[in-house]
Amino acid sequence: MKKINTILVAGAGIMGLGIAQVCASQGYKVYLYDAIDGMAKKGIEKITGALAKRVEKGKMTVDDKDHLIANIAIANSIAEADQSDLVIEAIREELINKQDFFCQCEMHLNENVILASNTSSILISEIAAKLKKPENFIGLHFFNPVPVMKLVEIIKGLKTSEQTAQIAYDFVCQLKKEGVFVKDSPGFLVNRINNALKNEAFACLSEGLATIEDIDKALKYGLGHPMGPFELNDLTGLDVGVQVAEVLYSHFRDPRWRPFLPLKKLVMSGDFGIKTGKGWYDYSSGEKKKRDLNL
Ligand SMILES: NC(=O)c1ccc[n+]([C@@H]2O[C@H](COP(=O)([O-])OP(=O)(O)OC[C@H]3O[C@@H](n4cnc5c(N)ncnc54)[C@H](O)[C@@H]3O)[C@@H](O)[C@H]2O)c1
Repeated sequence: MKKINTILVAGAGIMGLGIAQVCASQGYKVYLYDAIDGMAKKGIEKITGALAKRVEKGKMTVDDKDHLIANIAIANSIAEADQSDLVIEAIREELINKQDFFCQCEMHLNENVILASNTSSILISEIAAKLKKPENFIGLHFFNPVPVMKLVEIIKGLKTSEQTAQIAYDFVCQLKKEGVFVKDSPGFLVNRINNALKNEAFACLSEGLATIEDIDKALKYGLGHPMGPFELNDLTGLDVGVQVAEVLYSHFRDPRWRPFLPLKKLVMSGDFGIKTGKGWYDYSSGEKKKRDLNL
């Protein structure tokens, strides 16, 4: 069975950084690559900053932090990471973007490299459609924040081989995460169930049942969720939320999956949640504050 030593993590956004950190913490050599110049460097600085806080709090030693950071290198191109045994893609949620990226990987990396997508919603079989070796391709869906959340959904496409699935499962175990096999279907398991809940929260807001703040409070204190649906949406990214909703709606064609218009309006206005400073709440002062939204 193929041994994984070196990993190319593509996309230095929220998910790519979390995945790079977790892989490096388990001793893998990680290349971090982003299409935008300087993003990977900024990303490593962000990880270093977050780990420094853990050291301050006594949750990590300086040696462990330095060791982890030393395991992450910047790749300025896909070709620069040609020793990779595994690619984990966490780039923008867009079919063509992902298909092009993986075709580039097949061009520049070794022929037995395992290719994995962290897509939130797009069918694995569809991303694999343009590949020469779809048997080496699989979905590995991590959750945000990656260093904290234990689950990884493992999704086999129609052409994924059993061997690739086994390697992926063993790898997830090596990361000390819980792997669950899910059939290839839009939004897989967790996002499908979570979107149903989120859509109901949107419906309750539209009907004026309660405010955004009180819906969040109700789900936290009534159902024991660590975050309410609006807070979670701000953390995971409103832009990602719309993309996932579009995929679910385009496949199921059922109005209950239709993307919520006020959510789309926020995204169109440039408010993506915590990453841009504003979403359902306002984070621009460094604290989460209520927003007067004219929805
Ligand atoms: N945000 C979440 O909570 C979450 C959870 C699970 C899965 N995902 C999925 O992970 C992926 C990334 O999401 P994110 O929230 O980290 O996004 P993000 O917007 O924070 O980061 C995406 C990064 O990818 C880079 N990028 C875009 N196209 C690229 C390309 N062709 N090559 C290299 N880099 C490229 C961008 O420059 C950006 O830095 C998406 O597919 C998303 O659906 C997101």
